[in-house]
Amino acid sequence: MTKRIVAFRRLKPHHLEQLRNHFHVDYFDTLEGPDDPAFREALRNAHGLLGASLPITPELLDDAPHLEAISSISVGVDNYPVEELTRRNILLCHTPDVLTETTADTGFLLIMASARRAVELANMVKQGQWTSGIGESHFGTDVHGKTLGMVGFGRIGQAIARRGALGFGMSVLYTHASRKPALEAELGATHCEFEALLEQADFVCVNVPLTAETTGLMDAAVFKRMKSSAILINIARGKVVDEEALIEALSSGEIHAAGLDVFAQEPLPGDSPLTRMDNVVTLPHIGSATHETREAMAQRAIDNVIDALEGRRPPSPYNDVTPRG
Ligand code: DGY
Repeated sequence: MTKRIVAFRRLKPHHLEQLRNHFHVDYFDTLEGPDDPAFREALRNAHGLLGASLPITPELLDDAPHLEAISSISVGVDNYPVEELTRRNILLCHTPDVLTETTADTGFLLIMASARRAVELANMVKQGQWTSGIGESHFGTDVHGKTLGMVGFGRIGQAIARRGALGFGMSVLYTHASRKPALEAELGATHCEFEALLEQADFVCVNVPLTAETTGLMDAAVFKRMKSSAILINIARGKVVDEEALIEALSSGEIHAAGLDVFAQEPLPGDSPLTRMDNVVTLPHIGSATHETREAMAQRAIDNVIDALEGRRPPSPYNDVTPRG
């Protein structure tokens, strides 16, 4: 029997061809939401599901009784009810590693752009407002030699820290459940308590996954503890930051600036105060968005779903479920 999969994110012809060599594919190149009737109908017979950025609920899983594997084209799995999937014996796969360096580049881009006010000043030039010499009111702050505080020290956090320590001579502080002696030796990084990191870091860089524990982690009390010269960087998930508290902290001068790739609501609503603040760099969730990396992510997701549905251990399983084959 040829297994059936539902693919719901824009894929290139060569991706679809690979999938069609193994499965019957119901492909939705655009999908407004999970209630699309044709999508729900296709799910009823699907053994595999491949896509990203769609919250998967237990109610949706009830409509997919044959589902064996979900292959997400993302490293983050906050859109999936992981325990529920495991309980239903559904294997979840994701795409770690292939996006680490690109996402770290984005993190460093935000550090540089927010410290040196690159977006604000580039806009000034484009709008014909560079009419006199640059003076103190246009100055930024240095990045090299400063203290980089990593909230979370997983693969991407480590890659940002490597750029900071080895490329920019930064001191690195990090919080993590366990110490990382090899990185401490390589980068001179120091493991510390969250509060100490907040008090000492010039750049507080958020790299933790979104979970029940990390939702709203960066709240008003956190911003009060940070230096008034500090810059917040978020490349993780928007909901890790209490956005209202952040806007208040940026407006009142409690913290200096922010560089954000992720938001509580995406796309960021046009009327969000964050869109109007000169001391905030806003990117449209482009952490991994390069041609090379998105290709690698799609390929990893395809390899995952093929292996999972053909009974082999896929390259990047997330939960502990044996492929049924
Ligand atoms: C990921 O892979 O989790 C990125 O944030 C894109 O969603």
